[in-house]
This record gives sequence, C-alpha cells and structure tokens, in this order.
Amino acid sequence: MNVRAIKVSFPLLIVAGLAYLLFSPAKYVGYAPDQPIPFNHKLHAGDNKIDCRYCHTSVEKSAHASVPPSATCMNCHSEQYGGAGKGRPHVEILKKYHKEDKPIQWIKVHDQPDFVYFNHSRHISRGVDCSHCHGNVAEMEIIKQVETLNMGYCVNCHRENNAPNDCSTCHR
Ligand code: HEC
Ligand code: HEC
Ligand code: HEC
Ligand code: HEC
Ligand code: HEC
Repeated sequence: MNVRAIKVSFPLLIVAGLAYLLFSPAKYVGYAPDQPIPFNHKLHAGDNKIDCRYCHTSVEKSAHASVPPSATCMNCHSEQYGGAGKGRPHVEILKKYHKEDKPIQWIKVHDQPDFVYFNHSRHISRGVDCSHCHGNVAEMEIIKQVETLNMGYCVNCHRENNAPNDCSTCHR
C-alpha cells in the first residue's frame, strides 16, 4: 500500500465518501435517464453494425470516452449524405439541433463520484471489452447501467487480474 498517499488523502477521502453516500443522487443498476433525443444503440451499433469507436472516439486514447457531437450523426442523417431516417420525428429534432448549432445535452448514465479516478484507455489497452462493464450495449434500445461499478466491483477484478489495488490507484 502507498502509505504516503494514504496519510495525505485518507481523511479527505472518508469525508468525500460519506458526503457522497449521504447526498449524491441515486445511481444504480437499471438507471436509464430520459435523453434529449432517444438514441437507439441497438439500431445503430447492433442492426447497422456501426463500431463503438466511430462515435466514442477517445475511448482507447484517454481516460474519458467521448460522446459524439451532432456533426458525427450528420455523417449519415444530413440530406447531403443520404438522409438516413428522413422524416422520422427524432431525426428531424436532431437536424434542428445541428442547424441551430445547439449542443445536445446528453445526460450521463454511468457516473463515478469526483473522488474516484477511472481510466478507459488503461482497460481497453489490456483487452477488457466494453461489455464487461456496460453489458451488451448493441442489444440495448435505451442504454442503461447493468453493473454496480462500485468499489467492490472494481477491486475484485483488479485482484483477479493482478492490477494495482492501492487506495491511490482509484483515489487521487
Ligand atoms: C453511420 C451512419 C449513422 C450515424 C453516424 C448515425 N445514425 Fe442514426 N440512423 C442511421 C440509420 C441507418 C437509421 C435507420 C433509418 C431508417 O430506419 O430509416 C438511423 C436512425 C436514427 C433515428 C431514428 C430512430 C427511430 O426509431 O425513430 C434517430 C433518432 C437517430 N438515428 C439518431 C442518431 C443520432 C443522435 C446520431 C449521432 C449520435 C446518429 N443517429 C448517428 C444511421 C446513422
Ligand atoms: C452512432 C453513434 C454511436 C455508436 C455507434 C455507439 N454509441 Fe454509445 N452513445 C452514443 C450517444 C449519442 C450516447 C449518449 C446518449 C445515451 O446515453 O443514450 C451514447 C452513450 C453510451 C454510453 C453511456 C454513456 C454514459 O453517459 O454513461 C455507453 C456506455 C456507450 N454509449 C457505449 C457504447 C458501446 C459499447 C458501443 C458499441 C457497442 C456504442 N456505445 C456505440 C452514440 C453511439
Ligand atoms: C472496466 C470497466 C469499463 C470498461 C471496460 C468500459 N467502460 Fe465505459 N465507463 C466505465 C465507468 C466506470 C464509467 C463512468 C466514468 C466516470 O463517471 O468517470 C464509464 C463511462 C463511459 C461513457 C461516458 C463518458 C465517460 O467517459 O464518462 C462512455 C461513452 C463509455 N463509458 C463507453 C465505453 C466504451 C465504448 C467502452 C469500450 C470501448 C467502454 N466504455 C469500456 C467503465 C468501463
Ligand atoms: C475486467 C477487470 C477490471 C475491472 C472491472 C476494473 N478494472 Fe481497473 N484495471 C484492470 C486491469 C487489468 C488494469 C491494469 C492495466 C495495466 O496494467 O496497464 C486496470 C487498471 C486500472 C487503473 C490504472 C492504474 C494505474 O496505475 O494507472 C485504474 C485507475 C483503474 N483500473 C480503475 C478502475 C475502477 C475505478 C474500476 C471500477 C469502476 C475498475 N478499474 C474496474 C482491470 C479491471
Ligand atoms: C480499483 C479501484 C478502487 C480502489 C483500489 C479503492 N477504491 Fe475506494 N472506491 C472506488 C469506487 C469506484 C468507489 C465509488 C463507489 C460508488 O460509486 O458507490 C469508491 C468509494 C470509496 C469510499 C466512499 C464510500 C463508498 O463505499 O462508496 C471510500 C471511503 C473509499 N472508496 C475508500 C477506499 C480506501 C481506503 C481504499 C484503499 C484500501 C480504496 N477505497 C481503494 C474504487 C476503488
């Protein structure tokens, strides 16, 4: 264990952790908030076999997996490029967002508290599949959280895979 890191941050961590348990909005298995536009992963990533990385471009390179801007959607939905789903109400709403240059305010589904550090690229580069933590997204019409993603979930898998388990790995 990294003794120095614990000395510095342990009391802060406990306070942050307790505050989180008391005051955070409930995030749980099954959480599937309403989005500004219902986005169908099954239709896009399943039926149309669009690669996850086409939209979540930064997932291999950085800690965060980016969510695509409407420009990415317009690669298929603008009239100029074939106009997929033309006339469907939600597609027309998408075009309106794009035309008015308004960002779509997607609501975060999986959300770790600020005192937890998570890094996508470190997992993807070790061959951990998206489905391990997110379930079979290509079969989901509306995305939802399927794993607890709580501390036990992370620590158990780290133990099984000889990944670092110091407190400072995930709390820094
Ligand atoms: C690689 C091509 C491609 C990209 C990129 C793409 N879509 Fe689609 N989308 C499609 C196709 C194909 C359909 C099905 C059209 C149909 O059935 O007529 C579709 C359908 C839809 C529909 C209609 C679904 C329904 O049930 O009414 C919505 C809404 C939609 N897409 C939103 C988006 C959004 C938002 C993005 C960007 C985050 C996006 N799409 C990116 C190809 C794409
Ligand atoms: C055509 C673009 C597109 C493709 C392809 C796509 N996604 Fe997404 N994804 C989105 C958009 C837009 C959102 C935000 C809306 C939502 O949460 O429904 C999202 C949200 C997510 C989220 C939830 C993010 C959060 O807020 O916690 C996960 C997890 C995810 N995608 C995983 C995947 C995986 C895994 C694949 C491949 C099997 C995939 N996505 C393919 C566009 C895409
Ligand atoms: C080891 C578990 C794990 C794996 C594997 C994983 N994710 Fe995630 N994902 C998470 C966690 C935890 C969060 C919440 C992170 C946060 O709130 O800081 C998250 C959040 C996201 C988000 C929301 C944006 C963000 O970074 O917070 C998207 C999009 C996403 N994941 C897509 C993917 C895709 C696509 C893959 C596969 C290429 C993938 N994830 C693999 C655990 C994982
Ligand atoms: C599928 C098993 C698995 C799960 C689930 C998992 N991890 Fe990991 N994690 C690993 C492996 C393996 C590594 C080591 C990567 C390496 O050595 O490059 C790692 C590395 C990390 C690192 C980077 C460590 C460093 O020193 O840079 C962080 C941070 C991390 N994980 C946090 C988390 C968090 C937070 C969660 C839960 C939300 C989680 N992990 C869930 C397997 C997992
Ligand atoms: C592999 C990643 C990982 C490691 C290692 C880890 N934690 Fe955590 N910890 C988490 C995650 C993820 C959460 C948030 C759980 C949630 O969202 O409910 C958390 C939450 C907490 C909380 C808040 C209370 C709670 O249970 O939600 C405290 C306190 C805490 N950790 C202390 C520690 C201490 C002390 C150590 C070292 C012995 C440690 N953690 C090691 C990932 C980790």
